[in-house]
Amino acid sequence: MDESVVTDFRQNGYALSPRLLGDPLLARLRAEADRLVRRFTDGGHRSDDYWYFERAVSRDLVLYRIHKLQRQGSAAINDLFADGLLHALARDVLGVPAKSTVCAMIVKMPRVAARVPWHRDRTSVPPHTVCNLSLFLDDSTTANGCLEFVPRSHLSPAEVDGDEVLQRGPVRAVPAQAGDVLIHDVRVVHGSRTNETESFRRSIVVEFAPVGLDLADSEG
Ligand code: NI
Repeated sequence: MDESVVTDFRQNGYALSPRLLGDPLLARLRAEADRLVRRFTDGGHRSDDYWYFERAVSRDLVLYRIHKLQRQGSAAINDLFADGLLHALARDVLGVPAKSTVCAMIVKMPRVAARVPWHRDRTSVPPHTVCNLSLFLDDSTTANGCLEFVPRSHLSPAEVDGDEVLQRGPVRAVPAQAGDVLIHDVRVVHGSRTNETESFRRSIVVEFAPVGLDLADSEG
């Protein structure tokens, strides 16, 4: 692996690992993602794991997250969560053997997706200890709500407010291509904007923690 990924992760709190996934696996994951999203949009499926909101005027239902993704009956996603490329990458950036803890699909539906407000996933762990890996199934751009970060904010103390960090800035938008993996420290301040395009922007997010470290449940 390119050492600059580890350096970026430690210095800035995030790093991009380009083209981690080959086309055959990416195609399988995209097909599974299509099927899981269509359960909601076409099949009327509702469960505690399908998170959505209702638009104010049109009353359209907007899916934004499929939680506990490793329990939705997708073999390709289950394999990814169990062991493989993402585990190896997490081990490299954290510097210790890593286990996957939670997995979700982030869905930005065309035109109607909401922004994700600025937040930190966790502040209960030290910097460089726990990370989230976002595997992009679609190209992620400034037009469809790519992730944005405040570099080095993972080093800010837990009690420092996200807004305070933001005002100091800077803010960096990080576009990615389908098959890329974006790694971020759970402490880094991040968010994303709306999807202004006609296409879905989907990513699979898996949290990794050192083997042996117990964490309370997270939203990632
Ligand atoms: Ni987050």
